[in-house]
Amino acid sequence: MIDLENCPYKTKCKKYNNSQCPIQDLSQPQFCIKLFKINELQEKALLTDKQKQYVPLRLDIDGSDREAFIRLKQIEQSIENYIEGGNNLYIFSNNTGNGKSSWALRLLNSYFEAIWYKSDITCKGLFINVPKFLISLRDNISQKNDYIQHIKENVLSADVVIWDDIATKGFTTFEMENIYNIVNNRMDEGKSNFYTSNLAGKELQEAMGDRLYSRVMNASEVLEFVGADKRGLNK
Ligand SMILES: Nc1ncnc2c1ncn2[C@@H]1O[C@H](COP(=O)(O)OP(=O)(O)OP(=O)(O)O)[C@@H](O)[C@H]1O
Ligand SMILES: [Mg+2]
Repeated sequence: MIDLENCPYKTKCKKYNNSQCPIQDLSQPQFCIKLFKINELQEKALLTDKQKQYVPLRLDIDGSDREAFIRLKQIEQSIENYIEGGNNLYIFSNNTGNGKSSWALRLLNSYFEAIWYKSDITCKGLFINVPKFLISLRDNISQKNDYIQHIKENVLSADVVIWDDIATKGFTTFEMENIYNIVNNRMDEGKSNFYTSNLAGKELQEAMGDRLYSRVMNASEVLEFVGADKRGLNK
């Protein structure tokens, strides 16, 4: 049974806005193929219900990040080409809560919206929170976990991977090497990667290790956010 309350497309769905939503039409079986397929793609991407939802992202009153937002909107409009072209994007900021992860998720969800009608429901994109991934990788040594198995099975073949919080401090070079191997492989195969991070420059290099740093930074379009923390705005 599809729950219309939680449909992430309600606000921008043409059918919904024209009172033609197939789920609302009680004379028909309650089924929306778009909602079903995008939901499958999002599930395979490991998104939570909250991460599946569309979040309006506004500029600060002083216009900080205007350029970056304009560029991200351009990327969003041609997201299919951007990902098929194997492009890599690095979004960073010294400030927390100013939309880095939200933008990365927006791009991933827009990709699913662009491809759902011609895509099967295998894993086309993955959202990997790097600290969670590295901790789960440690746990996986003593007891195999589904999270790591799913990532291992799909991380090389997915069209795009979001590496959220890629440069969190406190991980060993050995742990970061694990990510290096995957990223390196993906880039050799011309696959797209989007990174978010709170670090840049020397600090980033120290947290990532030299090899990952050079692989990521030399191949990515870099966007910096300077806007204020907006955590709590959309609650
Ligand atoms: N431009 C924006 N407009 C509206 N809400 C925003 C904007 N930027 C961030 N938010 C809200 O703030 C919260 C935090 O955003 P997000 O997780 O994307 O930040 P982040 O930059 O990834 O933070 P961190 O540095 O801690 O990883 C989210 O709930 C998000 O919806
Ligand atoms: Mg974040």
